[in-house]
Amino acid sequence: MTRSRRTLPSLQGTATLGGLTAGQLLRLCHVAGLEPADAETYAGVLLKTLGQAAERPLDLPPPSATFLSDDHTPVEYSLSFQPDGAPALRVLLDPGSTAEGLRRSGRTGLRVIRRMARRWNFTTDRLDELEDLFFPAAPQGPLALWCALELVPGGVPRVKVYLNPAANGPERSAETVREALRRLGHDTAFAALPPADGYPFFALDLGDWDTPRVKVYVRHDNLSAKEASGLSRMDGGPDPAEIEAFFRTASGLHPEAFGAYGDPEARLAGRPALTCHAVTGTETGRPSGFTLHIPVREYARHDGEALARATTLLDSYGMDTAPLWRALAAVTSRRPEDGVGLIAYLALAHQEGRPPRVTAYISAEAYHVRPPVALRQAAVAAAVR
Ligand code: TRP
Repeated sequence: MTRSRRTLPSLQGTATLGGLTAGQLLRLCHVAGLEPADAETYAGVLLKTLGQAAERPLDLPPPSATFLSDDHTPVEYSLSFQPDGAPALRVLLDPGSTAEGLRRSGRTGLRVIRRMARRWNFTTDRLDELEDLFFPAAPQGPLALWCALELVPGGVPRVKVYLNPAANGPERSAETVREALRRLGHDTAFAALPPADGYPFFALDLGDWDTPRVKVYVRHDNLSAKEASGLSRMDGGPDPAEIEAFFRTASGLHPEAFGAYGDPEARLAGRPALTCHAVTGTETGRPSGFTLHIPVREYARHDGEALARATTLLDSYGMDTAPLWRALAAVTSRRPEDGVGLIAYLALAHQEGRPPRVTAYISAEAYHVRPPVALRQAAVAAAVR
């Protein structure tokens, strides 16, 4: 790929970030069962949302140091599986990746979201309500604004916006989340959240959702399976044993895997697990959704292992695994065993009134493939309490 780009520029033009990711997205749309017309529309939306980054030749460095993905590609895909039907395809984007600095990146992001709102006729009221809170004059933290598009049939995506609770300083993240929830009418929601080591994202559903959610992402350092099983704050939420089983399978931290040397209370000592708490109604003050995100790439030697875990999980929920295999082939021609990070996260989502969903986050790897590793000793080491 790299070689042909360098040696055949006159034959195939310059390979660009937009060209690569639009191609990936078209193939993923096919995997997700979308009509070709919708796929074309969504590839166009992707290019437009990336803005100037789309034209950027791939042999230049990434447009920014975004941590949206490990290799700084400002694009990540996800497939969300349900027991029946094709998985839902989503794409996460940093619309401000070519802007200089967080402040400008945030302004660009807001402009892009408002343009989407005009195009698809939805209101940004709830975002407007939070603008001064998440977009101060001198923002801090690791991101300004990301957006995710759920690519549903019909060519009009559902839009989610991700905001940065550390915008006013990391030490004020909790206060920023509390105030944002309060402004949106969820006065008691903050008190219902589990203990947190940080609040990496605050997310809003915008547009045509049945029940638009506000979502708070919580970071949990050194989490064990047992602890994970106690983090849902939903009324009548998931069975703790189910959460524990998902944690162990996704992270590879089974008691059996450790054998005689192992510790059933092994912890994720490297990149942390996250939980996401969805708030919809204002009545109970309790979240109506709970998601556990496991950064599988940190705890697997290569993507063959991550894929095997994903397959086991999908099987156990009675979900079709074929689309996941096809999705990996849609984004890369490398073998899963030849790198790690293609599957970035595995997540289990519970939302009131809906069957559980298993989601795989898939990297674009536009800039870099992380080589497979021998054994993530460092990450698993502190397995010991
Ligand atoms: N890459 C970042 C991380 O690993 C942000 C991110 C991208 C993320 N996709 C995600 C976080 C899915 C949670 C779930 O944290």
